[in-house]
Amino acid sequence: MVTGTSLSGVFPLGSRLNERGRLEVGGCDAIELAREFGTPLYAVAEDDLRARARAFVQAGADAGHEDFHVVFASKAFPCTAVLELFAQEGLWCDVASGGELHLARAAGFPAERIVMHGNAKSEAELRAALELGVGLIVVDNFDEIERLARLVPERAADRDGVIDEQAVLVRVTPDVRGETHEKISTGQADSKFGFAVGQAGEALARLAQIPGVWVRGLHAHIGSQLLELRPFRREVEELAALGEFPVWDLGGGLGVRYTEAQEQPPAIEEYVGALVAAAHEHAMAGSRLLIEPGRALCANACVTLYEVQSVKQNVSRWVAVDGGMSDNLRPMLYGAPYEAHVADRFPSPDSPARRGGSTRCVLAGKHCESGDVIVAEALLDDPRPGDVIVTPATGAYGYAMANNYNGVPRPAVVFCHDGEARVVVRRETYEDLTARDVR
Ligand code: LLP
Repeated sequence: MVTGTSLSGVFPLGSRLNERGRLEVGGCDAIELAREFGTPLYAVAEDDLRARARAFVQAGADAGHEDFHVVFASKAFPCTAVLELFAQEGLWCDVASGGELHLARAAGFPAERIVMHGNAKSEAELRAALELGVGLIVVDNFDEIERLARLVPERAADRDGVIDEQAVLVRVTPDVRGETHEKISTGQADSKFGFAVGQAGEALARLAQIPGVWVRGLHAHIGSQLLELRPFRREVEELAALGEFPVWDLGGGLGVRYTEAQEQPPAIEEYVGALVAAAHEHAMAGSRLLIEPGRALCANACVTLYEVQSVKQNVSRWVAVDGGMSDNLRPMLYGAPYEAHVADRFPSPDSPARRGGSTRCVLAGKHCESGDVIVAEALLDDPRPGDVIVTPATGAYGYAMANNYNGVPRPAVVFCHDGEARVVVRRETYEDLTARDVR
């Protein structure tokens, strides 16, 4: 058994196997977390979130760009406590709906640090953003421009003709494709997001005519879970060809490592360094630069803990746990890879026989669908009912896309720091499942 060992970069920073050979996250023993708070459980290492936020901010300064801001894409982990932590760290917040705007406010983000997104913003959502005076609205389409042309002056009339200028960016799809799952690729010409490059000029001109609208620059987001820097550099090149602006928002998309076997993504410093260098090469040195990381800020900060309910053998060895596609939809949606371990029987580097675990298993969820498989090929050390299983790297888009399929209540979220754990989102109850019923 390995003890006192730090773990691969797939796990939250500071994770280790303690003297009892058990996983420790944020100084908290995973087995004790499971016993105290129940399973499934999202266990988040608070220090990891902070360290990554600081690394992004520092990387901008190190790259020599003063007016550089890190905007957390809140869709990745839309939990008030996570947002609060990033607000404290001085980040901005990207919201993609009225609901996310509500969360950003609840978490204490000042309005001027909120960036409002959406390819189908409703009138109510636009009104809410305008009322609040968010830092930037990222305009996606001509219909939205028509709406703004009506809503901005209307709002001014409500206030005796005093128009607070609303800063906006125009979102463009620069026709740059990064290698990623097609469902999370957004930069291609045939995308549902933003204006085609050839339409950007008209969008900017129309916006410039609306009194109270202050056009600041362009936005692009080419895709997610990108593991190469080349598409990001091309994005900057394509954007720069559209003119010079005081603000550029280059979107998010930096990929992370989900399994030890996966290739290493660029480090935060490399990614930011490459973007800033490209920006400086293309006449953006004097502009404000924004980036919108989601996944790279929170994916590896969290592990999910499950309890094994049954183990059966037919063609495969099936290890069924008490969660699955209701707490992590990513394997189902994108065929996303994860790794899994028994939380107190990690493979030992000293024992080649046990390296990687002894048994090849399918880690299955509890939902009534054959496709509800969390890890198709997990190497687990003799899993038995009652064992706690851990899947690392579940912080991004896990909680975010959690659902109640099969009436399964969504897990709690706990923050772990210096050996102390605190619940920041309580586990859903069966009562919650009927709470919205109207009879
Ligand atoms: N900015 C915009 C405008 C975005 O649409 C997104 C992600 C981001 C920033 C953050 O991207 P990130 O740094 O996290 O790659 N549910 C999918 C991911 C969808 C991403 C949507 N937009 C998944 O689980 O992989």
